[in-house]
Amino acid sequence: MQAKPAAKLLKDYTPPSHQVAELALTFELAPHATLVSAKSTWLAVNNSRELTLQGVELELLEVKVNGVVHQDFTQTASELHLTSLPTQFTLDIQCRIDPAGNTSLEGLYQSGGAYCTQCEAEGFRKITYFLDRPDVLTQYTVTIIAPKEVPYLLSNGNKIDSGDLPDGRHFAKWHDPFNKPSYLFALVAGDFDVLEDTFVTQSGREVSLQLFVDKGNLGKAPHAMTSLKKAMAWDESRFKLEYDLDIYMIVAVDFFNMGAMENKGLNIFNSACVLANQETATDRDFHTIESIVGHEYFHNWTGNRITCRDWFQLSLKEGLTVFRDQEFSSDLGSRGLNRIDAVEAMRNHQFAEDAGPMAHPIRPEQVIEMNNFYTVTVYNKGAEVIRMLHTLLGEAGFQAGMQLYVSRHDGQAATCDDFVAAMADANDADLTQFKLWYSQFGTPRLVVDSVYDSTQQTLTLNIKQLPPKNNPEQAMLHIPVAIELLDDMGKSVPLSAQPNVSGKVLHVKAAEQSFTFTGVTSKPAVVMLEDFSAPVQVQFDSSLADKLHILRFARSDYARWEAMQQIYTVSVVQAINSGIKRLDAEIVAACGELLSKPVGDLALISELLTLPSFDTLIAQFETIPVEALCETLAAFEHQLACELKPLWLSCYAQLQEDGSLSAAAVGTRALKNTCLGYLAKVSDVQIDTWLKHALENPNMTLKLGALKAMVDATHSGLDDAMAAFDGAWRHDALVMDKWFALQAQRRDLAAITRVKGLYQHPRFDKGNPNRVRALVGSLARANPSVFHRADGSGYQLLGDLLVELNAINPQNASRMLTPFMSWRRFDSARGELIRAQLQRLAALSGLSDDLYEKVSKALEA
Ligand code: TRP
Ligand code: ZN
Repeated sequence: MQAKPAAKLLKDYTPPSHQVAELALTFELAPHATLVSAKSTWLAVNNSRELTLQGVELELLEVKVNGVVHQDFTQTASELHLTSLPTQFTLDIQCRIDPAGNTSLEGLYQSGGAYCTQCEAEGFRKITYFLDRPDVLTQYTVTIIAPKEVPYLLSNGNKIDSGDLPDGRHFAKWHDPFNKPSYLFALVAGDFDVLEDTFVTQSGREVSLQLFVDKGNLGKAPHAMTSLKKAMAWDESRFKLEYDLDIYMIVAVDFFNMGAMENKGLNIFNSACVLANQETATDRDFHTIESIVGHEYFHNWTGNRITCRDWFQLSLKEGLTVFRDQEFSSDLGSRGLNRIDAVEAMRNHQFAEDAGPMAHPIRPEQVIEMNNFYTVTVYNKGAEVIRMLHTLLGEAGFQAGMQLYVSRHDGQAATCDDFVAAMADANDADLTQFKLWYSQFGTPRLVVDSVYDSTQQTLTLNIKQLPPKNNPEQAMLHIPVAIELLDDMGKSVPLSAQPNVSGKVLHVKAAEQSFTFTGVTSKPAVVMLEDFSAPVQVQFDSSLADKLHILRFARSDYARWEAMQQIYTVSVVQAINSGIKRLDAEIVAACGELLSKPVGDLALISELLTLPSFDTLIAQFETIPVEALCETLAAFEHQLACELKPLWLSCYAQLQEDGSLSAAAVGTRALKNTCLGYLAKVSDVQIDTWLKHALENPNMTLKLGALKAMVDATHSGLDDAMAAFDGAWRHDALVMDKWFALQAQRRDLAAITRVKGLYQHPRFDKGNPNRVRALVGSLARANPSVFHRADGSGYQLLGDLLVELNAINPQNASRMLTPFMSWRRFDSARGELIRAQLQRLAALSGLSDDLYEKVSKALEA
């Protein structure tokens, strides 16, 4: 390995040396030679005569101080160090940059024909030299000059001027009245179709809404626009937060590293998170778009008006904003289903991260490459921590805390401590122990046992708190454990009052605690950790009968699903231990009962009939038994398919939907697809007819459901169906991503060769993160039996790709590397094969900081 990049530490934080009063940027756009001039006004905070600015891959043309050419500076690959400065001065810096040559999708780059920017976290330094840190806030004025073939010239805030230039080019000038850090700067220039609308805020201001999409895509824009208006209305009603500018723009681009970016007044979105109609997008896509549009909008207060002091505080805006978008989705749709999604993200991804070499607290303490910390821990566990605060304080207390947080810190760059202090002060609450959630990594464990005393009519829960396995020294946390006790009639037993119990929540704070509930007239079934009230792992042995009782009677839909998941999980573990891969007759019967009366929330029924994923189940094993796990899941699915065949058939035949996006229609399609998924595993003429009809259905959810069913069943008609889909959709890259993802999930012998072959497909492009994730990401995350083939061919394929991506787009390379991080969880043969790929990367010349940080951590110790 080359010289080791240095880690930055949270404890080394120092305030900036200077304040910036204003920044005027002028861009003269040209694909390979864009001129950027930055004129700014500076004030030294402690009379400093020196200033160090960040800048990367910039060609520096000129530096002037107070209008005079300044020679007293030195340059490194990432910094400009200015000396002999006055304490107050204007600074003019001219640079040249190469947007067309920028494949990292960070800084100013080209997506298709359009110019766009991505500055979070530290991309502004690829545009000009600046104090590129989130606690330097200033007012931006931006002038964009371009040839007229580039008609739309956009930046943050309000357009204050525009016109033609004598040389035939044109310009637009934008002013953002709100102070902001550099990571929220945005520029877009290109030709688009525009969907326009308006929103009237609660105080009666009319906001102009503009959604920019590639020409020809207007028909796929309305859903995102509707979602935006719903988000604006919801934030007013639930959080009393109103939009603050007169214009809100969203631009959809095809080349983007993440989902979307909350730049002030000018959100930039991955087109996959904007564009949708019923022919091209699935019901899940519609849901994702609504939640991401909401997420970016909610950042306007939690992120933009109040930003982060430093990047270690990222969860201040991300955890909170994910919590807000989850609540938005839950208030507008099904709370239970949204909770299932959130918990699956935790169990499938966050638990693994928190137990692996990249484990970090939601507020990390050490960072080499900030892009590596946009993680499920910071985002999703961060949101769970906010959710626990909400559980502890209640909705009214939480909102009081929010109001205090906003009134104290509006316009500032704040810390996680500031947020918790506002929550504590507004509620007169002591959150000292709770705050440990911000500084301790790993998943805490609870071991619970229950003792029922029929003579005393008491139920005692003995709860032990164990620290995370990989962090044994950590202090005891304050864990809110929500429970429900169900009597034998399925009624909720009220919890008798006692210390450390409020409402349905037990406050677990010590290594061992007991809770005794009186007046419990019969032995209840205990719903433990109702609604996943804390991000912990629970060990609590309950009988199959109790779990089935919970499935029938729990007040929480989430709890019912969780009971079913536990039933399946216990069965999988037993099957692997005993070698007998069969589900209990009672469990099959419970599934049959769900199927025999498909009424109510059909989407929930569909979830109840779906086995836990490979990624969820691996938490049950010290060493992941790859083959046994894949075989057991396949055996259970086959058993359910065969033994319940008449019920799957009658259920499917009976399900009707109107093709709309109503919750009822969406739920019906979900259950139809689940039925078809099982049915495709047993051959039948009727089933083949249904598959054929679904493939021909114009609704993408149904079409894709059939194709996925055929992939999972290795159906004989699959090749033809895939070829037909390719023929029909080759013109639409976003639709083809679904096809790439399905190709990558096939399990036949040719699977690896097929994926490699698809690199040559005309729609494939290694420079486009959506394509790479669809194809190779699906192989690595959604096709365990092929990716983990014992011959290492899956690992080789990913390793080869990472070598290439390291040079093209380090941020995407680093995200794609994640499946390699848990190499120690596999048997030694597989572990060695993965380790060899990691070592190969470590030896790469020109290894990016992004990959260096993860590879070196993975190989450590
Ligand atoms: N702040 C963005 C969000 O949560 C995340 C994001 C978008 C991002 N693009 C990025 C983070 C590029 C790092 C790098 O919505
Ligand atoms: Zn965010």
